[in-house]
Amino acid sequence: MISIKGLSKAYGSIDTSLLIVLKNIHLHIEAGEFVAIMDPSGSGKSTLLNIIGALDTFDAGSYHFNGQNVPELNRDALAELRLNNIGFVFQSFNLIPQLSALANVELPMLYTRLKKTTRQKAAVKQLTTLGLADRLDHKPGELSGGQQQRVAIARALANDPALIIADEPTGSLDTETGIEIMQLFQSLNRQGKTIVMVTHEEDIAAYASRIVRMRDGKILKNVSAA
Ligand SMILES: Nc1ncnc2c1ncn2[C@@H]1O[C@H](COP(=O)(O)OP(=O)(O)OP(=O)(O)O)[C@@H](O)[C@H]1O
Ligand SMILES: [Mg+2]
Repeated sequence: MISIKGLSKAYGSIDTSLLIVLKNIHLHIEAGEFVAIMDPSGSGKSTLLNIIGALDTFDAGSYHFNGQNVPELNRDALAELRLNNIGFVFQSFNLIPQLSALANVELPMLYTRLKKTTRQKAAVKQLTTLGLADRLDHKPGELSGGQQQRVAIARALANDPALIIADEPTGSLDTETGIEIMQLFQSLNRQGKTIVMVTHEEDIAAYASRIVRMRDGKILKNVSAA
């Protein structure tokens, strides 16, 4: 699914000061994997996730997603790739505060051809599956952190993407709620979703089937978990 070769990225320019955040990254992820990317320091994990999610560009190397050469895609093709193939989950949930849980989950479907009733039904079903049937009309501010993250996961799943990208999805949650979210990810992975997650915490990374360790923008080694 994901094939990254010799990828490098820097911020800034040679005239100002160049900050190299990713150095010669090689990363291959098969469909169906659950991968955790770990790093103790601020060394480019979010940048790498954004590149994988076709949200950010890079300076050298190559990135293919399902055989598509991502840097060659135009804006429309990139938007379509993201809309249909990738669901995003963030540390701070990134829900729209003015919208209900239901409306937040419907949002990614607004860009598809689905009818309003079909969208609503799908959003209700998704939220119900994630245990939020009685919270459909609640706004994010009226939900607990764990509930907000489940709404965000429901939103990420709205267009049935093959890949879920999660940047520290448990970073704003207490330990117990974080574990619940990891169990949810495991069950999504068993249902066939590919998951690529960034985390600082070993306990959280342990839920993945493979851990990729980074330091100073480089991948250290790939370790397979049990
Ligand atoms: N748009 C940007 N412009 C300039 N520098 C940036 C930009 N985005 C990130 N950086 C810098 O690149 C480096 C890597 O950032 P990134 O967010 O990828 O790290 P991270 O590994 O996700 O860190 P953390 O663990 O703190 O989330 C940081 O030093 C950051 O300041
Ligand atoms: Mg980050």
